[in-house]
Amino acid sequence: MTQTPLRKPIRKAVFPVAGLGTRFLPATKAIPKEMLPIIDRPLIQYAVDEAREAGIEQMIFITGRGKTALIDHFDMAFELETTLRDREKDMSVLEPTWLRPGNLVTVRQQVPLGLGHAIWCARGIVGDEPFAIFLPDELMIGSPGCMKQMVDAYNEVGGNLISVLEVPHEEVSSYGVIDPGKADGALTEVKGLVEKPKLEDAPSNLIISGRYILQPEVMQVLDGQGKGAGGEIQLTDAMARMIGTQPFHAVTFAGKRYDCGSKIGFVEATLAMALEREDMADEVRAMAKRLLG
Ligand code: G1P
Repeated sequence: MTQTPLRKPIRKAVFPVAGLGTRFLPATKAIPKEMLPIIDRPLIQYAVDEAREAGIEQMIFITGRGKTALIDHFDMAFELETTLRDREKDMSVLEPTWLRPGNLVTVRQQVPLGLGHAIWCARGIVGDEPFAIFLPDELMIGSPGCMKQMVDAYNEVGGNLISVLEVPHEEVSSYGVIDPGKADGALTEVKGLVEKPKLEDAPSNLIISGRYILQPEVMQVLDGQGKGAGGEIQLTDAMARMIGTQPFHAVTFAGKRYDCGSKIGFVEATLAMALEREDMADEVRAMAKRLLG
């Protein structure tokens, strides 16, 4: 009889949030792009909620200068909370922003050398545990959420996992792309990975969509790794070097994904989420019809 080996649980998640958000200027001149709200929740909140749903306890933010609002968002807000309490207002809206003391850790990425470098900055906090990564620009809406689906898959196969989805072939050059092997339901073996390939070199149209579960050895691979696509230290390159040494799978996410790193994606996410919300769907639908004339 074969027994599933006991896997170390995924307790930590790294959120690279040091980016300058230049695509959303001037909105992001004084506030982090991850604080831009989809309706009434900043992007970072969606990612942290998804992590908690998957059982993750410790959030590690890789930040930079000018990103303090992200930390404030998950801190106590004494004046606000006191005022709400005095006025007998509903406090439950703030609940998602309360983390257990000690469960938010921040590290500053002093120089923007790429996603791989940002993740490497968390090595001391990640230690020798497998960990998750969330790119908050990618809004993943599903039930269960994307990371929960990945943790369930991790409990089956272990090793390293990335979430993938199909995009039209002409879009692959903006992403990390997988060379797919055998598929079994939502799980696909990953035989190779390439960051931002030329159209003609792309091994598939399955792209990495901003959620990862990685083994801690990736930190050693990143240590001293050179620059890749776009002159940046790429996480994809480090992952590619792990293939063959550890199991590596892609999980096709069952749910919806919005690219909130682009303005169109952001508007789409806002509209789609509003149409899902019981408290506003009817009015938003009527408004959209009116606007479309
Ligand atoms: C990053 C990753 C890429 C991934 C993408 C998802 O790229 O390097 O592999 O497909 O996020 O959004 P970036 O968008 O930072 O250029």
